[in-house]
Amino acid sequence: MVGSLLALPSELLIACLVHVPAHTLRTCLRVSNRILSTTILTSPELLFVLELADAGLTEDPLHPAVDGAVITRRAALHARERHWRTFAFLRKFEVSSTLDAQDVQLWDSDGDWFAVALKGEGDVFVALYVVRTRPADGAGLDSDSEVPLPTRTWRRVEIPDALVGFMLVSELDLVVLVTISPDPQDAMRQQIQIQSMRLSVDGPHPAQPQPIEVTSIPSSYGPPTVHIEMSGSTLCVAVSCFWHTQTESVNRVHLFEWPSGRRLDDSFEQFLTAFALVNPTLFLQTHELPESAATGFCGRRFVYMAEREEGQEGRRVTMLDFNPGTIRWARRLLADQADGSSTVQLENATVRLLDADDAAGTRLQHSALTEPIVSELAYVEITSTERFDWEGVHMNGASVIGEQVDDSEDEWRLLEILHLG
Ligand SMILES: *[C@@H]1O[C@H](CO)[C@@H](O)[C@H](O)[C@H]1NC(C)=O
Repeated sequence: MVGSLLALPSELLIACLVHVPAHTLRTCLRVSNRILSTTILTSPELLFVLELADAGLTEDPLHPAVDGAVITRRAALHARERHWRTFAFLRKFEVSSTLDAQDVQLWDSDGDWFAVALKGEGDVFVALYVVRTRPADGAGLDSDSEVPLPTRTWRRVEIPDALVGFMLVSELDLVVLVTISPDPQDAMRQQIQIQSMRLSVDGPHPAQPQPIEVTSIPSSYGPPTVHIEMSGSTLCVAVSCFWHTQTESVNRVHLFEWPSGRRLDDSFEQFLTAFALVNPTLFLQTHELPESAATGFCGRRFVYMAEREEGQEGRRVTMLDFNPGTIRWARRLLADQADGSSTVQLENATVRLLDADDAAGTRLQHSALTEPIVSELAYVEITSTERFDWEGVHMNGASVIGEQVDDSEDEWRLLEILHLG
């Protein structure tokens, strides 16, 4: 079977291998078959599959380069990775808002979207706003250009019921809402539902126009704390009411397939609200981070505000990059260092390579965390040269997003967006 596959003309072999997952391609390289290795290592299409996987990315269907030839798409990927690794943003711009600073309680960011939910009476969210963080089309990417940007407008997403949680999934043009409303079957209870809306325009998502029933909890418990994650078609919703565990435990994780709405398994009990879906079948439970740690994850990068330095305005931004491609890049960069140091100072960032923690320990410490984080993976720490006057930092696929409070107006923060491509 394998023999006959390799007898195919190389164009056909490539056409087959393009559909093979990156880790299988890596395995193919390891079996030391000359035809297979040569085919993979000389095919731009297959190298692109490997490079995307190394960067922890799937191709963004809205990226300007996506319709181009493989050579253009690879070049765009290489440029993007270079920008992220060296903190060389293409342009900086602001998105202003007139939202009341006191009410902004919950946010999410994905693709090139950013969203905030505003708290109303009774501990539920009553409004949800989304905004795009991509520079406007046609505005030059040259950061010196003075092309005025059109005002980016926040769009208010229609919420069918009171909101307790939400999540953006930009590649599906989806906003997942978790809502709470009186249970029509039982006056003493309230129902928790998932509602799928479009992200870019108003209205229900065409793939899942019906609400998905999550659970029903006693009305006396009040609104629950909710955490949502999605990976592939697995949608995971954790519901917790921490103050009412005595009579009826409602602290459970519910798993669904999206968009069918099919329940994947029996729900299981949990007491923590912090978790991540590493892939559609692997659930990772973490200890809850303090709420004050304004941080963000995107792919295999993690961003946070570094600690304030004595006598300095603003703080630097630190990115931890776990991508294997970045680790190899940093090793090459460091190999050129005469003194064998593990740190390189670039124009816009300091790059430091941290190998997996050994007994000696190179542990990440931050005042927001009570204990140092031990990493069993090597990673690259990229710290911006510039300091930013930001309250918190987020990121999505294309940008690092800083939150600024407008003290004078007592209005909500403006977002400062560093577009990295
Ligand atoms: C540093 O950042 C500036 C502004 O974002 C950019 O123009 C410049 O090219 C960057 N430098 C390097 C070496 O990447």
